[in-house]
Amino acid sequence: MRRPLVMGNWKLHGSKASVEKLLVELMVKANEVEGVEIAVCPPLVFVGQAERLLRYSQIALGAQNIDVNRQGAFTGEVAADMLGEFGVRYVLVGHSERRAMHHENDDLVARKFEAVKAAGLIPVLCVGETQAERNNGETKDVIGHQLQAVVKRCGRKAFDNAVVAYEPVWAIGSGQAASPVDAQKVHEFIRAQVAAQDPASAQALRILYGGSVKASNAQALFMMDDVDGALVGGASLDAQEFSGIFNAA
Ligand code: G3H
Repeated sequence: MRRPLVMGNWKLHGSKASVEKLLVELMVKANEVEGVEIAVCPPLVFVGQAERLLRYSQIALGAQNIDVNRQGAFTGEVAADMLGEFGVRYVLVGHSERRAMHHENDDLVARKFEAVKAAGLIPVLCVGETQAERNNGETKDVIGHQLQAVVKRCGRKAFDNAVVAYEPVWAIGSGQAASPVDAQKVHEFIRAQVAAQDPASAQALRILYGGSVKASNAQALFMMDDVDGALVGGASLDAQEFSGIFNAA
């Protein structure tokens, strides 16, 4: 049995005051649930504050991005090892916003995935198709390539101790989540792709769905066999809404 994982990606939101308020509220709510892993990914500058607040909590800490390098003359960047020192467990790689707005291609994403693993942290590989790709029937092609790039770099066991998040780009922030049946079809495809490399990794792999997940649609998504949790953007900034999602897992 795979333990569900519900992660909040706060993106570029928050202040010291709002981080404290949200985490205090979430810690109370997280105490009331069992059998689900909860994680939050604040903006990097708040990671230290979050680590202090979460020290005695079961909520895990994630980060939204890292650099591929471990150290050196790379102004403005942060390395996975540094985040590990702050108790970070998960790191998102290949989020569509970074692919689109920060020109991260499959190869760079694969190098980041490798760097996260090298630091002993768990990469959360985000994959998904755009609306145009979906309309052209290219969903599996696009996702197949995104997965393959990681296998090419990290080998057949790449997805051992990793997480994949299926985030259709058209569903992110649109209010229009994929239907549970459509999500399941893609999750099943992802697991089959990973199984073709290494069946054991595929069996253990948690595949999260992301894209307009709310308390009201989470349960139907989590009912699907291959949906092992969610990567939540907007709804993770509200304790009531986010706890509605992790309670449904
Ligand atoms: O990382 C989270 C996703 O981009 C989903 O964002 O829940 O605001 O649609 P959203």
